[in-house]
Amino acid sequence: MQTTLAFDVYGTLIDTNGVVAALQKLISADAEKFSQTWRDKQLEYSFRRGLMQNYESFAVCTSQALDYTCTFHNVPLTAEQKAELLGIYRVLPAFSDVKEGLTRLKAVGFRLYAFSNGRADALEILLNNAGIRDLFLGVVSVDDIKSFKPNPGVYSHFLRHAKATGGDAWLISSNPFDVIGAISAGMKSAWVRRSPQAIFDPWGIDPTIAVENLLALGDRVIEYDRGQ
Ligand code: 2OP
Repeated sequence: MQTTLAFDVYGTLIDTNGVVAALQKLISADAEKFSQTWRDKQLEYSFRRGLMQNYESFAVCTSQALDYTCTFHNVPLTAEQKAELLGIYRVLPAFSDVKEGLTRLKAVGFRLYAFSNGRADALEILLNNAGIRDLFLGVVSVDDIKSFKPNPGVYSHFLRHAKATGGDAWLISSNPFDVIGAISAGMKSAWVRRSPQAIFDPWGIDPTIAVENLLALGDRVIEYDRGQ
C-alpha cells in the first residue's frame, strides 16, 4: 500500500504572514501583530462555526476576521483596502522549502494531497499561483461536508476521498490543533514546526513525528513506518 500524505495548506505550505509586507504599506500599527490577530480570529471563527453548525466558507471567516482585526487594532481600512488585502490572501506565497520538499516526496512515490479548510476553487488558485498544484494527486476541501478542522468528520472525508485508511495516511501540518485532530481521528501526523517559538498543545496527544520543514519529511516518515 502506498503511503498517502495530506498537506494542510494555510500556515504549512502557504505563508499566511505573506500579507505583512502589504500591511506595512497600508497601516501604521504593528503589521505582524495585526497579521497574527487576523489569523487567530480566522481560525477561531472556523472553530465556532463548526461547533455551531453554522457553516460559511473559510473565505467568509477570513473576511469577517479582517473586520474584527481592524476594529481591535483601531485601524480604519476602507472597503477597497480590505478588498486589496483579501486579494493578496488569495495568492499568498509558499514557504521556501515547499516546492523542493514536495517534488522529492512525489519522486519517492508518496501519494500527495492538499487538504484544507479553504474551498477547492480558492485552493486551486492559491496552489497554482505558488507553482505547486501539479505535484498533488488531488485537492480535498472541508467545504464538501460543510464543516471545519478539527471535526473528526473532515478527516474521515479526506480518507474516503483519497481511498486511504488511517493506518496508511499522514496529515502534515504546522497547526497543532490539526495534528491532534488527525491523530484523534486515527491518522498519523507530522507536525511541521515552522518556528522555534511554536508551542505544541499539552493535551497528552503528541505528534507522530516533528520536522522543521518538508525537506527531511520523507526519510522520517519511511523510518517511522518501517519501525512499526
Ligand atoms: C487549513 O486547513 C487550518 O489553515 C488551515 O489550510
